[in-house]
This record gives sequence, structure tokens and C-alpha cells, in this order.
Amino acid sequence: MDARFPLHALCISLIALLSTASAQARFKQQVLSTFIYTRYGDRTPFVLDTTPTLTPLGAHQLYEAGSRIRQRYLTPDDDGSTEPTGIAGIASYQLECDQLTVLSTNDQYVFASALAFMQGLYPPLETSSNYTYIAGQSTIQNGSNVVAPLNGYQYPDITTVSTNDLNSIWLSGSNNCPNYLASTNDYYGSEAFETIQNSTQDFYSSLQPDLLDGVFSDASVGYYDAYYIYDYLSYASIHNTTAAQHLTMEELTRAKILADDWIFALNADVDTSGSIPGDHIRAIAGRTLATRILQAFYTTINTQGASDKMTLLFGSFEPMVAFAALAGLVSPQNAAFYNVPEAGASFIFELYSLQAEDVDTYPDTSDIYVRFFYQNGTDPYSSLVAYPLFGMSPSQTLISLADFISGLEGFLMFNVEDWCTTCNSFSVFCPAFTGTDGSLDPSNALSPSRHGISPAVAGVIGALVTLAVAALLFAAVMLLGGIRLHRVPRRRRSELNGFKGGNKLASDQDLTIPKGGAGATVIHSEDPAYPAPVKGHERVGSWELREQAKAEEAHGRGLNTFASRPSRPSFEEDEMAINPFTPPAAPHDHV
Ligand SMILES: *[C@@H]1O[C@H](CO)[C@@H](O)[C@H](O)[C@H]1NC(C)=O
Ligand SMILES: *[C@@H]1O[C@H](CO)[C@@H](O)[C@H](O)[C@H]1NC(C)=O
Ligand SMILES: *[C@@H]1O[C@H](CO)[C@@H](O)[C@H](O)[C@H]1NC(C)=O
Ligand SMILES: *[C@@H]1O[C@H](CO)[C@@H](O)[C@H](O)[C@H]1NC(C)=O
Ligand SMILES: *[C@@H]1O[C@H](CO)[C@@H](O)[C@H](O)[C@H]1NC(C)=O
Repeated sequence: MDARFPLHALCISLIALLSTASAQARFKQQVLSTFIYTRYGDRTPFVLDTTPTLTPLGAHQLYEAGSRIRQRYLTPDDDGSTEPTGIAGIASYQLECDQLTVLSTNDQYVFASALAFMQGLYPPLETSSNYTYIAGQSTIQNGSNVVAPLNGYQYPDITTVSTNDLNSIWLSGSNNCPNYLASTNDYYGSEAFETIQNSTQDFYSSLQPDLLDGVFSDASVGYYDAYYIYDYLSYASIHNTTAAQHLTMEELTRAKILADDWIFALNADVDTSGSIPGDHIRAIAGRTLATRILQAFYTTINTQGASDKMTLLFGSFEPMVAFAALAGLVSPQNAAFYNVPEAGASFIFELYSLQAEDVDTYPDTSDIYVRFFYQNGTDPYSSLVAYPLFGMSPSQTLISLADFISGLEGFLMFNVEDWCTTCNSFSVFCPAFTGTDGSLDPSNALSPSRHGISPAVAGVIGALVTLAVAALLFAAVMLLGGIRLHRVPRRRRSELNGFKGGNKLASDQDLTIPKGGAGATVIHSEDPAYPAPVKGHERVGSWELREQAKAEEAHGRGLNTFASRPSRPSFEEDEMAINPFTPPAAPHDHV
């Protein structure tokens, strides 16, 4: 598939259209930002007693993945013959933390994967360039220039989130989700499952004596454990000479196909519902990933490209499999998506602009497009290919931002509350979202006596969670209606009006989002009929928040919010009293 075709076609038609108006009109194309979700690299198997860790091979895979992204977006050879791929204004050599948002789960093999990727993305300064001087940082008062260890190694800011952190739902939405688990148990009871289980029992039993003995018990050798068995076999085939000799290529391939079937049944079945009809419970990780993509794009547009030039997420393959199913990528034309993504494979979403050449301002949202690419691994045969989203025709790999948003609106998770209810989750942050009249009883999940959290700490958690409510309200408001956004420091507006599928409910709200897509600050509301989000106010990055974070850290809790980045204080508005147990107003209730 040729990614350039539709763009050129579009350019040509646009140019043809406008050249009648002005013979001189020229267009410039630009990548504004990217959102990249990458699968972790080769790691030790889950079944062993030791904590799964990234192997040196895995580190190489992710380093390679990062290098390829670097080549495309940071140091492209834009010779004019092809469309430009470099991200506008991104640093090529010296890592600038403010331009990137990096999120990882707190599994060692995922975090280490993120680190290896970042090493490839921003290599040590002495390796990538001989320019080792960092303005304002390198010199010390006696005049000498200090280079960081390991030839100027660059230290990225990687946010790792545990499942106690509400931000983890964007990375791994199916974790800690009881309704998802219940649905997977349904699968084990289904006839489809039994048929495969019965027909593959001989195959799995045949692997037992030479390969699985002592690792899997007799009882668990079967399709029931298809993924864990393949996980072990695949590791053995790479790292263990004895095992590699016992294992034929056919056996490994069959084990992989069965593992893929198992993973698809549990993550790509978009027809199965949990407690709410049509909630795509098995693909829930794809629903939450979709929300995070929009969050990143809104942040970069809202800050006119200052933040989130690159948003990098690192996690497992489930969200990719689920997203591919929901976004209509899995089809006979796109056979690549019938396989579970390999180590270091990435889903890449590009925000792309096409605007008149003589315009220097940040592009209008109507000039912004989205492209999706799949980088299917890191070996020499893997490649970056553009695919059409939402079941569109193969030529439509470039779609307008509005179409992209309305496509995602078909399945994304509106907010944390939505996730908590869909999952019937008992996660520590859920009570603040589901309120007292929800399906969850807050006293169950946040009771000091049951969980040994002192009332003071519970209060801190509640407050942090409430701050996040504002963020989610904002996201929901944005998703539901066209709104005007503007960045506080510059007071410049970027219009986000007129998204397809959006109701005009909140169109008169002016909101700001700080770095990292954190909470919304409602500046004013002209529409008295829609006052709810005014309550969702917060102060982001204030010292109080940092104090809270410290207090929380002192109590050994891992909670974090988007709001916890202290770099861009916003003191404009004073806060409303925050009551952690006030049920948050849910904008979608009003629709
Ligand atoms: C750094 O300088 C050395 C010596 O001048 C040169 O050989 C090398 O290619 C340079 N490396 C880079 C990355 O520019
Ligand atoms: C400056 O200070 C650093 C660290 O204290 C030292 O290593 C270096 O030799 C000093 N340079 C000069 C020119 O005195
Ligand atoms: C699978 O095997 C079990 C035990 O032999 C049998 O009871 C069951 O009917 C079989 N199920 C299917 C779908 O073939
Ligand atoms: C390699 O595989 C063999 C046979 O499966 C097993 O007995 C052995 O313990 C494995 N070696 C290592 C280092 O894991
Ligand atoms: C990735 O895609 C290319 C074609 O674009 C194909 O040749 C290769 O086998 C694929 N690799 C994997 C690991 O699926």
C-alpha cells in the first residue's frame, strides 16, 4: 500500500481547486505531532518463578524501534522528493522533556523497553553529534564543559503508572477490570473454546514430555493456556539450545497460531458485551487507548504544538489487538492485523497539516489530518505501512481530524467513570468517579478499616482523584461538543469547532488544558443551561499539588494524575472547595 498516494491525490485536488482563486497559492505539508503505542520487547516467560524481565535481545529490539522513529521524525532526510516526515520544531539531538510525554506501565520489561526505545530515539549526545554543549546546563563556573556519563547519555522523563493509578486505564484498560475477567471466563465455558480445546489436546500433550514438563503441570497443558505455553516455547526457541533442537518450526508455528486465536478471542471480540449492552467488554483496552490518543492530540493542538509533539506509550499487545478490531483494521485486505503485534511493533498516529505556504500560524483544525501507520516489528523485514482506519477504502489513509474524532467516538471510553462502571471496578480511584449512588459503594473500596489507609491519606487520594475528574470532564466536554480552546500564556485561540458528531452543548465553554492533557480550567461559561463543568475546576501544578504528591509518596501510594506535572503553573482562577465524594457531573448524562 502506498501511503503517499492519497495525500498527493488530495494535494493535487486541493491545489487544483484553489489555484483558480490564486494562481500563486502553494501548500506546505507538515507532521505536527505523533502518538505512538509500542509493544514491549523480548522478555523472560511469565510461567517462570522469576519476575519477567526484558532480555538484552529485547533491549536491542526496542532500541531499533526507537532508532527508526528517530530516523523518520527527528532526523529525516527531507530532500523534497518525498513528503516531509520530520515533526515541526522537535529537537533532533538534545532531548527536550517538554516536547515529549512518555508513559509506561510499571512492569520491568515494559519500563525497560521504554528506556531502550528512548536510547534509540535520543542517543547519547557524543554519539549522535559532536555537539555536547547544552546551553545553560553544561558549563560550570570555572569554565569547563561537563558531559554526562556514558558519552553524554540523555535521561528521559518516563512516567510509569501502576494499576492503582487511574492513568493506567489508558495503557492497559483490561487490567483490574472484573467484568472483563468475567467475560473471559465466559469464553472458557463456550462451545467455541471447547471445540478448540478438544481438537488441540493431542498437540499440546505431545509437547509435554520434551518441552513443557516441569514447567506446566499436566492439567494446564492445553489450549486453556495457549498464550502462556507459546510465551514459554517462543522464549525457549530463542534462548535455549536444547529446547530449540526439540522444537520443530511447525510446532512453534502451530503454538503461535493457537496463542493468537486465544488472544483474539479474549481481546478482539467486539460483539461480546459485559453488563452494558454494546460495551465491547473484551476490547475494552482498545476503547481506553482511543481516548488517550485524542487526549494527546488535543493537548498538542491546544498548546499550538508546544507540548506532546510526541506522545509515546509502552505496554502490552492487548490494547493494540483490541484497537485494531474496534477501528476496523482487521480485515482480509489488511492481513497484517491477523497476527498479534511482535516485539517492538508500533501503532503510529500522525497529526498532519496541509496549509497555505505563506501562513505562519499554527494550522487551523480544518487543515489538520490524521494518518495511521503500523510498524510491524523491528527485524529487517518489518516495515512501516499506512492503513485506512474505520474500514475505509485502501486509498483513504489520510483522513480529516474531524472524521478521525467521529470515528473514535464510535467506541472510545468517555471518562474514568465510564471505565469504572463498565468494568464494575474496585480500583482505588473509582469511588470518587462513580459516586455514592453508582453501582459501587465507596465505603467498600475506600474504607480506612478495610484497606488500612488512614483517613488523612484517604483524603489526599480523594482530592487527587477529584482533580482528575476535571480532566475527564474536560475530555468529555471536548468529545461531546465543539469547543473553543486557548492556551493561557499566549492568549491565542485555536478553533476546535464543528467536529462531526458533536453536539453543541458545551460550545460556549472556554477551557485550557495544561501540559500533559491534565485537568480543565473553565474560564467562563456563557451558557447558563450548562453550568456543570464550572465545578470541575482545578489548579494544576501548584505547590499544593506537589505537597500532596509528597504526602502521598510518604505514605507509599503510587497515585499520580496527569495533573502532577509541575512545570506550567496556572494560578488564574481560585479553586472551588473540593469534596472528594461529590459525585462528578457527567456531561454525557445531559445528552
Ligand atoms: C565527531 O568528530 C570526529 C572527529 O572530528 C569525527 O570523526 C566524527 O565523525 C564526528 N561524529 C559525528 C557524529 O559528527
Ligand atoms: C573545574 O571544576 C571541575 C569540577 O570541580 C574540575 O573537574 C575541572 O578540572 C575544573 N576545571 C578547571 C579549568 O579548573
Ligand atoms: C470435548 O470433550 C469433552 C470430553 O471428552 C466432551 O464431553 C465434550 O462434548 C467435547 N466438546 C466438544 C465441543 O466437542
Ligand atoms: C532448556 O530446555 C530444556 C528442555 O526443555 C530444559 O530442561 C532446560 O532446563 C532449559 N534450560 C534453561 C537454561 O532454561
Ligand atoms: C511485516 O510486514 C512486511 C511487509 O510489509 C512483511 O514482509 C513481514 O513479514 C512482516 N513482519 C512481521 C513480523 O509480521
